[in-house]
Order: sequence, then structure tokens, then C-alpha cells
Amino acid sequence: MTDVLSQQKLYYAQRAPEYDDWWHRRGRYELEPDALARWWADAAEAETALERLAPLGAVLELAAGTGIWTRKLVRLAERVVAVDANPETLALNTPEAELVRADVFEWRPAETFDLVFFSFWLSHVPETRFEEFWTLVQTALGPGGRVFLVDSGTGDTAHTGTDQAGWEETRSLSDGRTFRIVKRRWAPGELAERVRPLGFELELRDTSNGHFLCGGGVAA
Ligand SMILES: C[S@@+](CC[C@H](N)C(=O)[O-])C[C@H]1O[C@@H](n2cnc3c(N)ncnc32)[C@H](O)[C@@H]1O
Repeated sequence: MTDVLSQQKLYYAQRAPEYDDWWHRRGRYELEPDALARWWADAAEAETALERLAPLGAVLELAAGTGIWTRKLVRLAERVVAVDANPETLALNTPEAELVRADVFEWRPAETFDLVFFSFWLSHVPETRFEEFWTLVQTALGPGGRVFLVDSGTGDTAHTGTDQAGWEETRSLSDGRTFRIVKRRWAPGELAERVRPLGFELELRDTSNGHFLCGGGVAA
């Protein structure tokens, strides 16, 4: 498992310059106009759900990446601490956030937050680290703190054609290099039930066209 997690980290470091092509559906991620409209409609749904929580107060963003969601968070929050393992992704993130280079599986916060946010990250957390990850979230939340997540929905097809087996898949970069990563696409009800015994009450849903899982809640 350590090997997959190292490969996954390296994959995102090397993918950093081309990462946003996926979100903006450019190049090999390009979609036909109708499909593109459905993609952006789903993205707007997820963003609106986040905006409904504003003002967000002090936010901790885990695995923040190139800042696609960090840039939305800084508009809605008092401050954002954005953690990511890779300097390559953080270099593309926004200086409006407090950027922290750290491995989420090793890092512990020195303070608590009003909101813990993670997008397209939980699907990369393996079962063996799942509970430990939610303990980190719990530790990072102050009284009345909330969680919000966005991730790939079960209808996500952005990486079809990759070798998918169980909760792992092989991803390739535009230069052809391949990496093995963890990728578990959670159904809303399944995830809500999985985290309830860990102390979280989450209200989750798939966006209308199935691209994204989104929602949040509180530590019970
Ligand atoms: C799928 S990207 C998501 C990025 C961003 N949240 C978004 O929505 O675009 C996963 C991110 O996790 C980071 N990452 C990978 N392994 C990590 C780890 N062990 N600790 C912290 N960040 C990690 C990668 O650098 C990458 O930026």
C-alpha cells in the first residue's frame, strides 16, 4: 500500500502542469458541447452547495492541489490553510491561501478550523488509511465545525479506458508514463453510512448528471 501511495503522490507531482486540463476539459479530456454543458452544470451544483455554507470562517483544505477549489474557498472564507504533499501542485495554487507542504497521512494540525474541506481526495484514501484520515478531520474541527467534500461520482467517466481493478487504477500522463493510484468512487449513502460510526453525520448526494459526489455535515 505504501508503494501505491508513493506512486499516487508522484503521479500528482508530475501531473501538476497538466492537472487543470481535466477540470477545464481540455486536450484529452475534451467533451462534446452537450456533455461539456452537463459537466459544468454539475460543477455549478457542487459549488452552489459549498456557497450555501458561507461565510466559511477558518478553513482547512486537505490535498488542495493546484487550487481549483482553493480559489473558490478564499472568496467565501476568513482564511484558508491549504495542505498538499507536493511542491509542484502548491506552486500553482493561490498565494491568497496559507500553503502548507505536508503529507496528509503524517501531518497533524496545530489549530482547529470551522470547516475542513477536501475535493477529489477521499477517493484516493485507501481503506487501510480511511479511519486514520477521518481522525485527522475530527482533530482539525473546532466546536460546531463542519466538513464539506466534493469528489468523483459513481458516474464519473473522466478516466475510462484506464486499467481499473478494485479500488486501484493505472493512470497515464500525456507523455505516456503510468502510475498506480487508489481510486474509490463512493456512492452517497454508502459513504454516509461508512463515516457514521466514525462520528460524522454527512448529507451527501450525486450531482444531477452523476459527475460528482458532494455534500457535508458535522462531527456528531
Ligand atoms: C486529485 S488531486 C485533488 C486536488 C484538488 N483538491 C482538486 O480538487 O483539484 C489529489 C491531490 O492530492 C495530493 N496528494 C497526493 N498524495 C498526498 C498525500 N499523501 N498528502 C497530501 N496530499 C497528497 C496531490 O498532490 C494532489 O494535489
